[in-house]
Amino acid sequence: MAAIVLIGAQWGDEGKGKATDLLGEKLQWVVRYQGGNNAGHTVVLPNGETFALHLIPSGILTPGVNNVIGNGVVVDPGVLLTELSGLEDRDVDTTGLMISADAHLLMPYHVAIDKVTERFLGNKKIGTTGRGIGPCYQDKIARVGVRAADVLDEKIFAQKVEAALELKNQILVKIYNRRALEPAQVVDEVLTQAEGFKHRIANTQPLLNEALERGETVLLEGSQGTLLDVDHGTYPYVTSSNPTAGGAAVGSGIGPNKITTVLGILKAYTTRVGSGPFPTELFDEWGEYLAKTGGEVGVTTGRARRCGWFDAVIARYATRINGITDYFLTKLDVLSSLDRVPICVAYEVDGERVDEMPMTQTGFHHAKPVYEYMPGWWEDISQCKTFDDLPKTAQDYVLRLEELSGAHISCIGVGPGRDQTIVRRAII
Ligand code: IMP
Repeated sequence: MAAIVLIGAQWGDEGKGKATDLLGEKLQWVVRYQGGNNAGHTVVLPNGETFALHLIPSGILTPGVNNVIGNGVVVDPGVLLTELSGLEDRDVDTTGLMISADAHLLMPYHVAIDKVTERFLGNKKIGTTGRGIGPCYQDKIARVGVRAADVLDEKIFAQKVEAALELKNQILVKIYNRRALEPAQVVDEVLTQAEGFKHRIANTQPLLNEALERGETVLLEGSQGTLLDVDHGTYPYVTSSNPTAGGAAVGSGIGPNKITTVLGILKAYTTRVGSGPFPTELFDEWGEYLAKTGGEVGVTTGRARRCGWFDAVIARYATRINGITDYFLTKLDVLSSLDRVPICVAYEVDGERVDEMPMTQTGFHHAKPVYEYMPGWWEDISQCKTFDDLPKTAQDYVLRLEELSGAHISCIGVGPGRDQTIVRRAII
């Protein structure tokens, strides 16, 4: 029995798709446990074909794997159908995809409210993806959400949408000066879409637990990252769910004691999308270098990512918060050709050295990186197959990150392709 959690250790976009893909053939199940189509995973197949996935678990690209959209996910029906047909058009078998009956549906009014709220906040905006994620989770917590299983009872579904829209329309019209949404139109639209995915709705929690009892391997795939977690991230510049490892049990319906491995995905430098503090952010030519060499553009929104050096304070924090047992270090190749490679080992906050995440939001806003410098390497490492193939200085950089982060770096990505991964210790 093995349940493995895959979690981004920074602000998301660490390259989780590559890790899922590496584990692919050893998995029987891949489960998304939180988030929605605010996520974007890029997977490059051996034949060079590239897939960008948003809502659907990346196990869909590995034949024979069962894929589950867990109860913790928010599902935009239109996006789901478009993503499914995009995969089917490229001959990907999607028959094994199931949607938890308890997953919340992201409705057109959630998208409308997300966009107007951000506009209203002006320069205080969160920089959301504009996909309605926050408003959908707000409804879930306020107990006025609509769940996947609701589309199986059209009367109940219509009642829930009408009740939700009563308040939403007041907000849209009276606060934001927008047009009201017609309940009957929303009901019709979503029920028509539901015809395309109704057959996939299932009670996925017992299926997953039975699979674990049979000894099958389940990957619980997080989206976003540790610092975007609504509890443990850089609040309020976070997403509205719990990507951290504890969220994997809640968002899939398996017990926490079933989790045997927590695999953190860690980029060899740092990136962030949207607003909020970012101590190692670079505003000079090195920031441009990382963005360009690393191809740092959001898969979902196409927005340019903010770039900075590796931050070991964050990595240490992620190791603890998630109970990370192994790291997959991605994009090491992007750092080739630097004379020296900076690592942020601590912060200076208002004149004092701080080794942990500051307690207050103000403290984190004031945090200035304290750098240590490692000698760089100039060799092209994209064809290295083993740790020993790496130049000595690249090995030293990895070992120092491992020491500072507090968990074993088991895999190292040296390029985007499926075969461009060095495995130091097998995950499964
Ligand atoms: P939301 O999830 O759309 O509400 O956006 C909240 C914050 O999370 C914003 O700063 C987004 O840019 C960020 N965010 C959401 N999803 C991702 C992701 O998959 N990668 C990186 N940042 C993300």
